[in-house]
Amino acid sequence: MMLELPVLSQLEPFQVPSKEQRARRVYIETYGCQMNLNDSEIVLGILHANGYGITEHPEDADVILINTCAVREHAEQRVFERLNHLKPYKRRKPELVVGILGCMAERLRSRLLGEKRLVELVVGPDEYRKLPQLLEQAFAGEQGIAVRLSRVETYDDIEPLRTEGISAWISIMRGCDKFCTFCIVPFTRGRERSRPLQSIVAEVRRLWQRGFKEVTLLGQNVNSYRDPITGADFADLLAACAEAAPQMRIRYLTSHPRDMSDKLIDTMAAYPNLCKYIHLPVQSGSNRILALMNRGYTVEQYLERVERIRSVMPDCALSTDIIAGFCTETEEDHQATLELLRTVRYDGAYMFKYSPREGTKAWKWGDDVPEEVKVRRLNEIIALQQQISYEINREKEIGRLHEVLVEGPSKRNPEQWQGRTDTNKVVIFPKSPEIGTGSLIRVRIRQATSATLFGEVVAILEPASQQSA
Ligand code: SAH
Ligand code: SF4
Ligand code: F3S
Repeated sequence: MMLELPVLSQLEPFQVPSKEQRARRVYIETYGCQMNLNDSEIVLGILHANGYGITEHPEDADVILINTCAVREHAEQRVFERLNHLKPYKRRKPELVVGILGCMAERLRSRLLGEKRLVELVVGPDEYRKLPQLLEQAFAGEQGIAVRLSRVETYDDIEPLRTEGISAWISIMRGCDKFCTFCIVPFTRGRERSRPLQSIVAEVRRLWQRGFKEVTLLGQNVNSYRDPITGADFADLLAACAEAAPQMRIRYLTSHPRDMSDKLIDTMAAYPNLCKYIHLPVQSGSNRILALMNRGYTVEQYLERVERIRSVMPDCALSTDIIAGFCTETEEDHQATLELLRTVRYDGAYMFKYSPREGTKAWKWGDDVPEEVKVRRLNEIIALQQQISYEINREKEIGRLHEVLVEGPSKRNPEQWQGRTDTNKVVIFPKSPEIGTGSLIRVRIRQATSATLFGEVVAILEPASQQSA
């Protein structure tokens, strides 16, 4: 059961912090997926409730935590490189504690202790409640490790420490039971488990009251969500959230094609505040490869789901994930993936080279597609998808009106502002005094590239948000 949480500063700490502990400050850096971003907020929530201060500057920190990703080799390499850069901080402040959290911690475990003569703490994704105690030990000079996976931990009662903004992440489930043969996630995140529906709905409501305008419900497979109390499914959860905060934009990530039910599609169509955007990773366009990957669907079944989505919601945007060069992938398999991209015409895609992960089923099958072939195939996939995204944006977006939730100044040019459409596309528009972060505006699209829309403001539907803590 979810407790109505008091404001964080009023939370009773687990232990009365000592004077030095009260002054201690934590800096956290996050790699990997959105679930990791939300986990970092959960970690800060736990540490803040235990008397720690938060800093955005590693040089001011007494504790540096790196929340890591293990999904591809490259993600891990980045963390090892980052550790090299952190060495001088330790040299300057020998009492500094450096800890590795997240999926690499779970995968590499004690192998990380002592890494670069820096890492003193290794904590996996289900053990964050132990952080205050482990940090105490680390300050006393003891290395600490906690990497047990849990069948029940969902951090349901922890209020994540979110930076104020207009958009918030909410993890609704943890873990994954799908065991795709290429994927390390079931090993780093453990078994699938869901949070109670009522507690998620209460969190959505609280966030709306605090001034948030958008939430993204997170999980590795949100559409296999099951309320542990009532058995309600993901469509029920979406409907309950949509009704609890009818003006809040509600998104979700990631859905699995196998669980993309008619009920879910119909529910999305029924509520205007459920955003018309679906990320539906396909991975490959070859049935032979899909079977080897243990994805649980064929290309034909996948396309049937896409058709169903588009027949019910013609304007729904779609994106996907693709892996190039999975073991045994032939030129013919690769051509089938390109063909699938041409058939579906996704609005966007995340495209990766296959990276073998030790411990997965596919690890034993080797990595037989040569690197240069993988690179060439990946580049062909990227080029084709970019061209398709560009064509879609030119043909379907120019002249169209969109409701845009304003995020703030554009990163490239602060004279321009940016926001996002309901379909999750970035829109750039001229800055104006009446528009602020959190405004909802109507924009007519005038120009487009493959990744960005440019428009003019036609109307202000809601003024800027005013946030209360
Ligand atoms: N749960 C989500 C995906 C999570 S991982 C789903 O099933 O759709 C995000 C993406 O990383 C995956 O969709 C896949 O495209 C990619 N990925 C996962 N493991 C990988 C590996 N070993 N090599 C390359 N890409 C991988
Ligand atoms: Fe990995 Fe497959 Fe689970 Fe996604 S569904 S997290 S790709 S095992
Ligand atoms: Fe990476 Fe772990 Fe997320 S492996 S993608 S951080 S679940």
